[in-house]
Amino acid sequence: MKTLPSEALSYNRNDWQRGYLSQPQEFDYWIDEVDGQIPFELQGTLYRNGPGLLDMNGQTIQHPFDGDGMVCRITFDKGQAHFRNRFVRTEGYVAEQKAGQILYRGVFGTQKPGGFFANAFNLKLKNIANTSVLYWGEKLLALWEGAEPHRLEPHTLETIGIERLNGLIKPGGTFAAHPRIDPGSSPTDARRLVNFSIKTGLSSTITIYEFDDHYQLLHQQSRTIPGFAFLHDFVITPHYYIFFQNPVQFDPLPFILGWQGAGQCIRFRPDQPTQILLIPRDSSQPMVSLGTVPCFVFHHGNAFEQDNQIMVDSIGYEYFPKVEPNQDFREIDFDTLPAGQLWRFTINLADGSVDRQVIESRCCEFPSIHPNYVGKPYRYLYTGAAHSPTGNAPLQAILKLDLHSGYRHVWSIAPRGFMTEPLFVPRPGGTAEDDGWILAMTYDSTHHRSDVVILSAQDIEGGAIASLHLKHHIPYGLHGCFVQNM
Ligand SMILES: [Fe+2]
Repeated sequence: MKTLPSEALSYNRNDWQRGYLSQPQEFDYWIDEVDGQIPFELQGTLYRNGPGLLDMNGQTIQHPFDGDGMVCRITFDKGQAHFRNRFVRTEGYVAEQKAGQILYRGVFGTQKPGGFFANAFNLKLKNIANTSVLYWGEKLLALWEGAEPHRLEPHTLETIGIERLNGLIKPGGTFAAHPRIDPGSSPTDARRLVNFSIKTGLSSTITIYEFDDHYQLLHQQSRTIPGFAFLHDFVITPHYYIFFQNPVQFDPLPFILGWQGAGQCIRFRPDQPTQILLIPRDSSQPMVSLGTVPCFVFHHGNAFEQDNQIMVDSIGYEYFPKVEPNQDFREIDFDTLPAGQLWRFTINLADGSVDRQVIESRCCEFPSIHPNYVGKPYRYLYTGAAHSPTGNAPLQAILKLDLHSGYRHVWSIAPRGFMTEPLFVPRPGGTAEDDGWILAMTYDSTHHRSDVVILSAQDIEGGAIASLHLKHHIPYGLHGCFVQNM
């Protein structure tokens, strides 16, 4: 890990901002510039999704969450790697490309050109398919939590169209961007895909689905909770689905009048508790809602049951900052915003009490674990992290946390490198929980290009065992998945 003077910023803001330039081009090539050696045992494909377009016709997209989804595919084959990226041909993307201008308002503040008259009472949102990508049941799906998934061809990444999962998702329905794959309680159990949809307003209805590996519906249940709900992610244990209902309020008037995006009308309520919703997987059992300290959670790392307690490890923020109108996200002042930290919520099932403990105070986001430990007691968590142990800053490092010993291992690419979601991929035949690799896409501002880095999960501080240099940059993405050879 490079050492920087403690008083210096670990990054240059201009370097960080350039990682948010659009990448309108689509590529298809074998990666021929590699430092180190791609492990021969690493066979399969890393898919990643994220906003690819961050401006259009001279107008900037105000927030990356409003950028059109672009899926990248890096296929590893006998020590070689192939890269491909394609935009998801959503209805909105196709229409805007044809028109050469923004036709839709974005949830996080992007406005149509034309001022008040173009935006007021125009509530039609674009399904931007930009948040995650899931391969399950031989279907590759680009996910955005506000609408239906788009199905892509897994090799060419061509868009096949809206996917309704055998009619389960109705027109206008949603399918969350954070599916969980339940490994089952024994090695012989078949894996299940668990995901949810939400309909929110004055009250909110969460519908949870469990699928087998052919998308046959194994289980479905719905629960209604009072109030508006901003539910991005959830976690599972053998007996529960667990959601955090952040204490936020939705004031839609500025959205309806065209002044603000819907996401900018969300207001944090520091006077209200965060509600932890324990929904039994046995739908005949009642749901339990437990209050804890007011906080905001986008992402959970894992949850597990132990000794009549449930532990939930999440990236928590002290509050959710209001997304201000006309504020370009590239200009945000990191020092004035709360940093994400890893928190453990311990839920006592006997008395309903909830204890919150900070496990890692370093700014972090995008947690990942070994897929076989989803919903189970586990030891290792990996996450993107800031270079410096204190303060709020862009992600520039990978942090491995040993939850048993408390040891932390950090690999930083500061000052000129920037990190995105690190993904743990088990080594075939490996038995230790950390026997595998960490895959991540990084942004190298020195060369204005992206790298795909491979680390040994047992030697994070040893750095990348292979750095695959792309011929171009890919804007900072959101979430991805790894698929063993199809
Ligand atoms: Fe997410």
